[in-house]
Amino acid sequence: SGEWVSGEEMAKRLAISRAAVWKQIQALRKRGYEISASTRKGYHLTKMPDLLDADRISGCLKTKWLGRELRILGEVSSTNAVALSLARDCPSGTVIMAETQTEGRGRLSRPWASPSGGIWMSLILKQEMPLAHVYQINMAVAVALCRALSSMLGLNAGIKWPNDLLIHERKICGILMEVSAQVDRLDYAVVGLGINANNDPSGFPAERRSTSLAAELGHDIGRCELICMILEEIEVACEKMGSKETYEEWRSRSLTINRQVRITSAAGDHVGEVVDLADDGALILREGDEQKRVLAGDCIHLRPLDAEAEAL
Ligand code: BTN
Repeated sequence: SGEWVSGEEMAKRLAISRAAVWKQIQALRKRGYEISASTRKGYHLTKMPDLLDADRISGCLKTKWLGRELRILGEVSSTNAVALSLARDCPSGTVIMAETQTEGRGRLSRPWASPSGGIWMSLILKQEMPLAHVYQINMAVAVALCRALSSMLGLNAGIKWPNDLLIHERKICGILMEVSAQVDRLDYAVVGLGINANNDPSGFPAERRSTSLAAELGHDIGRCELICMILEEIEVACEKMGSKETYEEWRSRSLTINRQVRITSAAGDHVGEVVDLADDGALILREGDEQKRVLAGDCIHLRPLDAEAEAL
């Protein structure tokens, strides 16, 4: 409460010994709580760490089903790996998050650096849909994330195809969807979100220019509150999944339309101008006189100069 509280008072209120109070204070300090101590006045909480906290999240979460089953872990290999191992026996909407990941994974089998301070979480979704429509999940989630960043933090993020969020041309968030499916039907999707929140992104690979919410705003953000907002927006977006409205919003937030890009895929490289995004998530690319549809690949936005260099 911001007041000094004596060890004796706490011991009395909690019906534990004063030694036990001291032990708990030590445990809290180890978790990052800053607690001053004075022999005359007792203890004083000076700073709370920004830890992921189930009570804080459940206290502000207004969703019906998303995040109602919540697992918060300290260090894990990858929240996507944990979610995939649990998915079969979990209700749709289960969310797994962790303070750090030791083997965070990104698209195209890239490693994903996941130090403390970021938001590393995976959602288990069991939507009834044909396998060919799973790109709609990506679209809905990307749009929802942009909305959450804008309404809670006033930040204007755009979508770089297929599903990166950028602020000022730097990556703020990546989405990795992994699915289990029959030939024609989705069993479940695990949607992994990696958001550079209060972590320092300067150590990330230079060719993948990154930023963080804290760097953009000049101060740390409350991760628990942002997580609530994100889950609320995703739940709303899931209910409109596949709609014209979501598709139009995704297009209007796209940073890739009208850009010169290079797409690298197993089928070869394409360099050209993006004319549009098809409603099935494919890029429509003008390469010389031809128009091509590109469904998957690694997309690099070229600056006008790079594009010239490519053309030479
Ligand atoms: C990308 O842009 O390449 C996607 C990155 C996705 C990272 C998140 S962090 C939470 C979840 N667990 C993982 O191992 N990866 C995703």
